[in-house]
Amino acid sequence: MAVVDFVVYSLPMDYRLISVEPLTPRIGAVIEGADLTRTVSDALFEEIHAAWMKHLVLFFRDQPMSYDQHLALGKRFGELHIHPAAPFVDNNPALMRIHTDEHSHRNNGEGWHSDVSADAEPPMASILHIHQTPPQGGDTLWANMYEAYNSLSATFKELLLPLDAIHAANYSGFYGDHAPQRENPSAIHPVVRTHPVTRKQALYVNSGFTRRIKGITSSESEALLTLLFDHVKNPNFHCRFQWQPHSVAIWDNRCTQHMAVWDYYPATRSGVRVTVQGDRPFR
Ligand code: SIN
Repeated sequence: MAVVDFVVYSLPMDYRLISVEPLTPRIGAVIEGADLTRTVSDALFEEIHAAWMKHLVLFFRDQPMSYDQHLALGKRFGELHIHPAAPFVDNNPALMRIHTDEHSHRNNGEGWHSDVSADAEPPMASILHIHQTPPQGGDTLWANMYEAYNSLSATFKELLLPLDAIHAANYSGFYGDHAPQRENPSAIHPVVRTHPVTRKQALYVNSGFTRRIKGITSSESEALLTLLFDHVKNPNFHCRFQWQPHSVAIWDNRCTQHMAVWDYYPATRSGVRVTVQGDRPFR
């Protein structure tokens, strides 16, 4: 199935329903011509998916989706993922609340990360709908992890390829009084993963969840992770998106990382994320 997908999505795509405006040559595209408040037809989904595989994160403007429409969009991509601990809205744990205001002590997703990589089967996609934006700021940055891997030397790639890393999350008190949905996850994943659709290799360690590289000393692990976490910060791999109320971003956690900038205190930024279940990462 995945190989068939790859053949389909590696063909040049003749977009008939949407227009695709790249945000940078390496990552990110703004999509026009898709109304996400309506049922996404198979033909539209195929074009969106092809653009997503190429640009890794897609942006849509002026999409006043209801919670049900947001959930339905997520289900086009697959089974929904439930965050281990985050607060949610509408009494539905699939609707993760993304909210920062003058009372917040931290901002969700402030450091570079791939969503919930501490899960054994981490989410493949995240769909963020921002409802309220601050007067200025509150942008999100994404990094292309294929590029992050490809830009390394052949010798360094060879060193990384056989390695596994421990990812772990400790949510105790992280979301204040909100009780976690399930235990603190932890998982072992390859440091370099193969994307199940594109079959391309991507660097898969992130400062949010990756704690230790296995099979080397702790000082070697620390030095290697510090180097890789710094490498991800290279702006040549990035795009940056300025939200407006009812913008939507759909990103691929298998080949990107992101970070949300908190430069707008004490203003409010608020939205909802629907997250789509992924497979166990493989080499
Ligand atoms: C996240 O899902 O990590 C939050 C991203 C954002 O708020 O822009």
